[in-house]
Amino acid sequence: MALYALGDLHLSFQVHKPMDSFGRVWKHHEKKIRKYVCQTVGPEDTLVLTGDHSWGRKLSECREDLAFIEDLPGRKILLRGNHDMFWDARKTDRLNEEYAGRLFFLQNNFAVYQDYALVGTKGYTFEGPFYLDPWGNLTGWDEEREAHAKKLVEREMSRLRDSFAQAEAAGFRKYIMFLHYPPTSILEEASPFTEIAEQYGALAVVYSHCHGERRFGDSIRGTFHGVRYLLVSGDYLNFKPALILP
Ligand SMILES: [Fe+2]
Ligand SMILES: [Fe+2]
Repeated sequence: MALYALGDLHLSFQVHKPMDSFGRVWKHHEKKIRKYVCQTVGPEDTLVLTGDHSWGRKLSECREDLAFIEDLPGRKILLRGNHDMFWDARKTDRLNEEYAGRLFFLQNNFAVYQDYALVGTKGYTFEGPFYLDPWGNLTGWDEEREAHAKKLVEREMSRLRDSFAQAEAAGFRKYIMFLHYPPTSILEEASPFTEIAEQYGALAVVYSHCHGERRFGDSIRGTFHGVRYLLVSGDYLNFKPALILP
């Protein structure tokens, strides 16, 4: 029994969204996903997919993508990504009813792996509100964008607190935290997301969303203040699921 994670499958079986233009790593990426997940994940294992599952804009355009995920081995747990337009956070219960026993949608709830609670939410980070010159020096600040970003962070934090609180109320004391967005924005070394991970003593924070060589280092990777931070974007891992816990 093992716990794996992989993010950003960006499937598009029903809508036209070829990913090849994003680099060689995306060529036939759905074939790589199937191959590597089948090689790695067994029927007794759990695979957390950390968002950006589908390019479809509504559920009817995502059915084949979700069926592809359903067909992969193991228990599949899905987190919301910024591109998952099909998934209204307030209607997660409906998705969980419809896909009961096939897929689990992690939002304002939690899942269980051994004695760990798997908690999570989409999160939010931004590539501003600062402006950088070509050498990476700070040249300006957009206060309006900053205020908007703070609101989004607060909303995601309340969803994450809810997930932790439900797990804690159910008696869990060990946690693995999943985000779609990285835990910190560029230029940040800490955030409300890293603070809550430390507060609950999460074993790990697993995130994705970052695509391409230049973005893989946007946030923290490795161990900080006793918490392991792992980037599991599909293209970062060449679509091989990362082992989170044996
Ligand atoms: Fe993505
Ligand atoms: Fe994303």
